[in-house]
This record gives sequence, C-alpha cells and structure tokens, in this order.
Amino acid sequence: MTAWTMIFAVDLDWNIGYDGDMLFKIHADLRRFRRMTQSNLIIMGRKTFESLPEQRPLPNRVNIVVTRDRAYRREGVTVVHDLDALKSLVDGLVADSGGDLRPFLIGGGELARQCLPWCAHALITKVFRRFDADTLIPNLDEDPDWATVWTSRRYSQEDLVYQYVNYERVSGV
Ligand SMILES: NC(=O)c1ccc[n+]([C@@H]2O[C@H](COP(=O)([O-])OP(=O)(O)OC[C@H]3O[C@@H](n4cnc5c(N)ncnc54)[C@H](OP(=O)(O)O)[C@@H]3O)[C@@H](O)[C@H]2O)c1
Repeated sequence: MTAWTMIFAVDLDWNIGYDGDMLFKIHADLRRFRRMTQSNLIIMGRKTFESLPEQRPLPNRVNIVVTRDRAYRREGVTVVHDLDALKSLVDGLVADSGGDLRPFLIGGGELARQCLPWCAHALITKVFRRFDADTLIPNLDEDPDWATVWTSRRYSQEDLVYQYVNYERVSGV
C-alpha cells in the first residue's frame, strides 16, 4: 500500500480554515510547502482546489482533485469522483514512477478525515494561537496511532509563533 503524507498548517485546536480560506499565511511555511511537494503528487478536495490562487493548479506537481461533480473539469488537474478511484489512481501513479512520486494530502478537512487511514506521515505546522474557524483536521496529538518524531525550534512571523512537527503512524495501518 502506498503511504501518503499529510501536510497541513494548524492552530492550537487543529483548525485549518475559515470561509474557504487559510487562517494565516506564513511565508516561510508556504515556501517549505512548495519545496516538500515539488515534483510530487498533491491530492485535495474540490474546495481546497478552489481556494488556490486564481483557482489554478500548483505548478510542477501532479494535481488531483476530488469532487462528486461528474461534470467538473479544470485545466491541468486530474479529477476523481470517489475514494476508490482516488486510491487506485494514486497507487497507479506511484507504481508507474517506480516509487519516485510521493503522494501528499494537502487539504482540506473533509478529505483529511476520510483519507487519514492511508496516511503514514504528517508534516504539521503548528501555530500557537486560536482562530475563528469552520474547518479542522483530526488532532494527531490525541490519536494513539500517531507519534511525534521530530519537532523544530519555534519561529515567528510578526506576532505569529509557529513550529514544524513531524508525525509518523505507529499503528492502525
Ligand atoms: N491550513 C491548511 O493547511 C489548509 C490546507 C488546505 C485547505 N485549507 C482550508 O480548508 C478549507 C477547505 O476544506 P474543506 O474541508 O471545506 O473542503 P475540502 O476537503 O477541500 O473539499 C471538500 C469537497 O471535496 C469533495 N469530496 C470530499 N469527499 C469526497 C468523496 N468521498 N468523494 C467525492 N468527492 C469528495 C466534495 O466536492 P464537491 O462538493 O465538488 O462534490 C467536497 O465538497 C478552506 O478553508 C481551505 O483554505 C487549509
């Protein structure tokens, strides 16, 4: 089975979004996101895709978007309509690449809840603040199937203090 990596930026309550947008934009984190996902597969729900700048696919990555809308088409995007098709597509692309392509689940909350069982790694940017939010992902600190394997020092951007935390699945695969 292909192990996926989740990559998300969360607040103290693991919130990730409000009204279709991110809760904050940390420039260094966005650069890190680009560096990590570059040349790989990125998997997202339709709402996350539509939150991207100008609703354009992210360059130099295979963009996969999940929607129940059978008529949904966007240039530069591979669209799938259910989780089985998503899983088969990702497995096939990874196998065809000889394992070179790494699948990243990049959003949003609805997709994260459903695809969590396929994720074995999580790259989480934790922001030490609480925001008004309407979208969250599962709190891996409270999930016994996950363990922290690396924690960065704390950084700041103006009044936002944040930290990178890597998690690995330890059971429940
Ligand atoms: N902080 C971060 O790291 C981060 C990262 C990404 C996104 N975000 C934020 O998260 C929010 C978006 O997340 P969200 O949870 O609202 O939406 P989402 O997960 O991005 O997308 C949900 C949509 O995906 C499709 N979908 C979900 N499950 C499906 C399934 N089993 N089969 C077929 N289609 C399925 C549906 O599209 P249709 O309605 O078209 O059928 C559904 O409405 C935004 O605020 C965004 O800014 C934050």
